Amino acid sequence: MQKLTIKRPDDWHLHLRDGEMLKAVLPHTAQDFGRAIIMPNLVPPVTTTKMAEAYQARIMAAVPQGMDFTPLMVLYLTEDTDPADVRAGFESGLITAVKLYPAGATTNSASGVRTMENVMPVLEVMAEIGMPLCVHGEVTDSDIDIFDREAVFIDRVLDPLGVRLPNLRVVFEHITTKQAVDYVSQASRALAATITTHHLMINRNAYLAGGIKPHYYCLPVAKRESHRKALVAAATSGDPRFFLGTDSAPHTEPNKLQACGCAGIFTAPNTMGCLAQLFEEAQALDKLEGFTSLHGPAFYKLPVNDAEMTLVRSDDPVRYPETIETADGPVMVFDPLCPIHWKPVTGA
Ligand code: DOR
Ligand code: ZN
Repeated sequence: MQKLTIKRPDDWHLHLRDGEMLKAVLPHTAQDFGRAIIMPNLVPPVTTTKMAEAYQARIMAAVPQGMDFTPLMVLYLTEDTDPADVRAGFESGLITAVKLYPAGATTNSASGVRTMENVMPVLEVMAEIGMPLCVHGEVTDSDIDIFDREAVFIDRVLDPLGVRLPNLRVVFEHITTKQAVDYVSQASRALAATITTHHLMINRNAYLAGGIKPHYYCLPVAKRESHRKALVAAATSGDPRFFLGTDSAPHTEPNKLQACGCAGIFTAPNTMGCLAQLFEEAQALDKLEGFTSLHGPAFYKLPVNDAEMTLVRSDDPVRYPETIETADGPVMVFDPLCPIHWKPVTGA
């Protein structure tokens, strides 16, 4: 196949940041994606409907003229979150979901949740009104090996939460393990999972073999090849519980390249080309539209985008920019470590 037309994709997990970085990275998402779930881990985090409203306005001001993009706003859950504010934000249509960061799990997660019991009143309201909870699914205990943190989270947090609140709609975000794929595939509750571009394309060798490669460091960390294969099988299966959340997370070069570098991979500019390549190799190009454009809206109970995207395959590999410039410094674009032959030709 040389050409593929699909409904315009959405990104169900995206970091846009703020200020100059927001202005520089947003066009790369708006070019290919109609909507995105906007992560609230700013400094300070987006914890109230009022803060989300102001952030939404800053995002809309950064959308280039002529591009069609809708940010779906998310509240950062803390142990002080007011259930009434969450209810009002959701019912007004301004807020789409709430994000659970276990405290200390990742970038700017210090204000996250330490004790699940303390956020139960918020989660109970969410279960009642049908509001999705996006979950960073890793335990943070220092005695748990970093490669096991996702699997342990399933046993210690995700499964008990489903027993306690079976009606709560949960998105297990950026899954990286076969255990997560199996758990979501077999779940009878309203549970879905997002998978990132990079976790579909790289395994842990990318950042550890042949020298330390900070540009492949993200959280959760990429696991061994057998886990990547399980993720590819899930993404290309057509199962509507799995959909794209890029977790595109820009950091400047100085912030990546230091003794204690930031976690995050910037995939917005080349995600759709990478995914078309991957789905083609898995002989599943017919499943790409479901993964990028249909399953997410179905879970979030939103309409599918009207617009379409056409991807074209060329015999010669396609070139994507290696870095983008921002006023804060250059940001490296994800290098998938293999030739990419696909490129979207129509975006917005
Ligand atoms: O790699 C990551 N980067 N994982 C996260 O959970 C957060 C993100 C960021 O904000 O940079
Ligand atoms: Zn993220």
